[in-house]
Amino acid sequence: MSPVPSLRLGVNIDHVATVRQARGTAYPDPVDAALQAAAAGADGITLHLREDRRHIQDHDLERLLSLCPVPINLEMALTEEMLRIACKARPQQVCLVPEKRQERTTEGGLDVAGQRQLIADACLRLRDAGIAVSLFIDPDLPQLEASAGLAPNLEINTGAYAEANTGASQAQQLSKITRFAAAALASAFEVHAGHGLNTDNVAPIAAITAIVELNIGHALIARALFLGLPGAIAELRQVMQQARR
Ligand code: PXP
Repeated sequence: MSPVPSLRLGVNIDHVATVRQARGTAYPDPVDAALQAAAAGADGITLHLREDRRHIQDHDLERLLSLCPVPINLEMALTEEMLRIACKARPQQVCLVPEKRQERTTEGGLDVAGQRQLIADACLRLRDAGIAVSLFIDPDLPQLEASAGLAPNLEINTGAYAEANTGASQAQQLSKITRFAAAALASAFEVHAGHGLNTDNVAPIAAITAIVELNIGHALIARALFLGLPGAIAELRQVMQQARR
């Protein structure tokens, strides 16, 4: 029997910057948070440079790139401005996400099927800059089929699973994610997942062995208010690892 692949944790630091931007202060510094998260065992740092710069700023990305000891996953919309920033900054990974100005957070996956050529062109530009690309998509098979061959990595949107408000609908979303993850792995993607995950709902997702990376932010940063970032990471890791066994 082949060994269960380990599960990486990418810590999303956006909401450290949200607190800073609420007052226009210099603190709390998301780069300090990233360094502390890396020291506490985060396998990677995720940040979303939104078009409206509501939390992470361009200078955060620049400083992070020069200081962060673990790989950086830059989430961004597919715009010319963002493509230029990414190709210049060259983080280890870019995760392409859809973005709407009015949304509080990313609301759904990319419509790869509906804009395949645009996404294919962006993936090529990023690949040529030496950046691994991840496509953030809903666990729908037509999106998987459309994504084939475009990028090495896929991130499954776990938002609908996290927001399901009955046991039955959560079980239905989980089974959709499980089947989708297996299909994505069979199509040679490295499979990631994220959105809305926390210590209460992460275990069933962490148990899906086709998934090798989780990107978690809001709930983790919220928990860090009470436990500190190292404590919150340790708590989440423990749940992830227990589920993985
Ligand atoms: N993955 C993607 C692609 C996202 O857009 C986000 C939110 O920025 C996350 C993961 C993390 O979601 P959350 O903050 O709900 O943990």
